[in-house]
Amino acid sequence: MLSLNQRVPSYLKAIAPYQPGKPIADIARAYGFQEDQVVKLASNENPLGMSPKGREAMLKAAGDLGRYPDGNGFGLKQALARRFGLSTQTITLGNGSNDILELVAHAFLAPGKESLMSDHSFAVYALASQAVGATLVSVPAQSHDLGHDLDGFAQRISDNTAVVWVANPNNPTGSFIPGARLESFIAGLPASVLVVLDEAYTEYLSEDETYPAFEWVQRYPNLLVSRSFSKAYGLAGLRVGYGVASAEVTDLLNRVRQPFNVNSLALAAAEASIFDDDFLARSAELNRQGMQQIQQGLQGLGIGWLRSWGNFLLIDLQAAHPTVPGAGVRVYEALLSKGVITRPVANYGLPGYLRVSIGTKNENEAFLKAMPFALESLMTLRAHAS
Ligand SMILES: Cc1ncc(COP(=O)(O)O)c(C=O)c1O
Repeated sequence: MLSLNQRVPSYLKAIAPYQPGKPIADIARAYGFQEDQVVKLASNENPLGMSPKGREAMLKAAGDLGRYPDGNGFGLKQALARRFGLSTQTITLGNGSNDILELVAHAFLAPGKESLMSDHSFAVYALASQAVGATLVSVPAQSHDLGHDLDGFAQRISDNTAVVWVANPNNPTGSFIPGARLESFIAGLPASVLVVLDEAYTEYLSEDETYPAFEWVQRYPNLLVSRSFSKAYGLAGLRVGYGVASAEVTDLLNRVRQPFNVNSLALAAAEASIFDDDFLARSAELNRQGMQQIQQGLQGLGIGWLRSWGNFLLIDLQAAHPTVPGAGVRVYEALLSKGVITRPVANYGLPGYLRVSIGTKNENEAFLKAMPFALESLMTLRAHAS
């Protein structure tokens, strides 16, 4: 008889589990810090926390947790429809936008089908594809920004391609595809290929960089736009995101969705946050200033980075330290010992890079203060190696 393990499909066993940013409590325990001495710049969270309006609505909803949430998310869908001029028939709510990505995989992928992603792009595209037995095709990145090579994507489309994942801005590279280029790519795809345009960081774009993705959904029935409340809206811990697509695609996603996939607190907080323009503007401005602060600090240390359109920066340790293998993990570990959590990205095929999320002024300062020590550890290694 087959053992339990033998019954599990080999494509499931081949999955490398997602590696999240380390929690503050873990590092405090491991290195003997108080939790408030640890700075976490590892998961592209909002350093301002959540919107005050969202918090107020969430606390109110906390009074009635004995009941199931509204499984259709009526209030939040209405709010999104009003905010962006959408029909509620085109909105799917998710337990984080991660959930939307998984719903897409369940509805559109299966063994024998392929999905395409860029070499250095969000890990969940691979996980969601592999979990349903689909074949993941990784398209080599552009060399200048490590971002999506859309011509390369177009060349890899085959009869088996069912889903194309495009993150804009992209995580972890921070790269950005201008709207006009993106639209011509979508327009050129076969109508049988679903494009997932993942806009988790779109709220950080300046006005002249934004493009009308929701209008494109009306023009291209094979386009799904996913968005998150975890980043600029500061609701990462509540888990809420949404997808916008044709009514037909939305209906398919609804069939594979858990009946109550978004909890009551998340629904209430998101519904109130979506109209908190003041909080959104403050978040974007803090990000702009912090980005500048970190770049100036890195410049002073002779370290380069890739231009980023998100709330994080991909630091290039390789250029200054080409002889140290796995420089990203080494600098990450040295920073941990100083109570600063960043994100190594070797699992994204980028062992010579380190991703740092933009924090408050003080958090960014703590990171920059610890960096000379962390870089010193690379020097020591180099001296030993030579
Ligand atoms: C590009 C991208 N998409 C989606 C997500 C998922 O975010 P969430 O599930 O919190 O909405 C992330 C999170 O880091 C991301 O970087």
